[in-house]
Amino acid sequence: MKVIIVGAGAVGSLLGGLLSKEHEVHLLGRGAHVRAIMEGGLRVEGMTAAHLCIAATDDPGALPRDADLLVFTVKAYDTIEAARSVRGVPAAGTPVLSLQNGMGNVEALVSAFGAGPVVAGITVIAVNRPAPGVVIHAAPGRAVVGRSEGEPDGTVERVASALSAALPVTTSANMVGEIFLKAIANAAINGLTALHRVRNGVLMERQDLMAEMDAIVAEAELVARAHRIVLPVDDVREHVHDIVRMTAANVSSMLQDVESRRRTEVDFINGAISRMGWASGVPTPRNDMVVAAIRRIEAGYTASRAERRT
Ligand code: PAF
Repeated sequence: MKVIIVGAGAVGSLLGGLLSKEHEVHLLGRGAHVRAIMEGGLRVEGMTAAHLCIAATDDPGALPRDADLLVFTVKAYDTIEAARSVRGVPAAGTPVLSLQNGMGNVEALVSAFGAGPVVAGITVIAVNRPAPGVVIHAAPGRAVVGRSEGEPDGTVERVASALSAALPVTTSANMVGEIFLKAIANAAINGLTALHRVRNGVLMERQDLMAEMDAIVAEAELVARAHRIVLPVDDVREHVHDIVRMTAANVSSMLQDVESRRRTEVDFINGAISRMGWASGVPTPRNDMVVAAIRRIEAGYTASRAERRT
């Protein structure tokens, strides 16, 4: 299969690298990381060790027109812009898979490509990008994919089978629940690790952080219930603890963003839960606190950039 990965960040590059064992992969991204891959290939370290020569570009016009699958791994705040940049690149109807953090991505892809080709997905994978051209695969991952809208037509099964070259994949008929559950895990893990500048595992080592994490989860569960979202596990708190244990050595994506002074996805994770809580009358003070604190950090980058200019 010819697979285009839209978003050559940590997850997109690792996924592309793993998929390239069986498929022809093209990475679309920008900045120093993509330039490094174009010049010297992609180095994967950690539990997968490989130096891969993989096609990468920052120009959507250079992507193959006959791709069989587009996988979106861009940050949630870039979904609409990235979709616009590749619309018209592959033939109409080519499957488009979202494997992103946060909420609202599937809806954005459906508005760009129509419901027919869009497959919803989540992935739990521990990966970080310590230097341009390098990713560290910190823990084994898994993915869940399924139809967001539209009739079953075999697309989900074809996408799952292609993706299984990279990691174990299951299919689900409840992607709304899967995406909300993943957002709960990200809401509980990412903000706190970014605020306290700790690796994921520390959230289970410190009683105060574990209590904070559990409170964020409890709040989000009430929001899910108010919106009649059926979460696909019985014990959400334990599920989140399992993800923390599985990714203990990882630097969360939000901590990576904060350390690199990049915009975070907090508005699409804790922010989305807070907005849904507000809409259904469920108070979400812990998620609100994470949003406010992360926004203060983001505002700090802008302020220090402005100071450096004066
Ligand atoms: O965003 C992340 O960092 C990841 O989704 C996860 C699973 C929390 C691991 O760090």
